[in-house]
Amino acid sequence: MTDDTFEPTIIGFTCNWCSYRASDLAGTARMKYAPNVRLIRLMCSGRLDPTFVLRALSGGADGVMITGCHPGECHYIEQNYKALRRFLLLRRVLTGLGIEPERVKLVWASAAEGAKFAAEATAFVEEIRKLGPLNWGKADSGQQTVDHEEPSTVHRPSSEVEVPA
Ligand code: FES
Repeated sequence: MTDDTFEPTIIGFTCNWCSYRASDLAGTARMKYAPNVRLIRLMCSGRLDPTFVLRALSGGADGVMITGCHPGECHYIEQNYKALRRFLLLRRVLTGLGIEPERVKLVWASAAEGAKFAAEATAFVEEIRKLGPLNWGKADSGQQTVDHEEPSTVHRPSSEVEVPA
């Protein structure tokens, strides 16, 4: 059973030269697309560190959309091929963590493809809505420790052992 009230939070990483301009074109042309996507602009999709995606998902996002210039059209020669490899790696890592790999999507969009950007963003929101909330990091929220306490499982190196005053 799906939750009709669930509004997915999506982080979208865009490259400055193509996909960000596609999103801009969608906006200036008043094309409607789901407002759930919050964009973060990078100079190039090749700048996307996989940890950005993992941090987004562990920090409350339900899905991440990575976008960039079409293969062969990257302004930094072939950096978007790196983005493609990282995307494939991320999907494997998510599968290993027990998270649906469909929560990460890769879209190529040129600056002229505002309609494509809007359609892909809306379709992705609906895909994530069907998957439901991710809730990564909320499962152990009942086991939070007080600021000055450490969980008993933390092992400190001997160089960090506190000396009483
Ligand atoms: S500049 Fe757009 S993906 Fe590299």
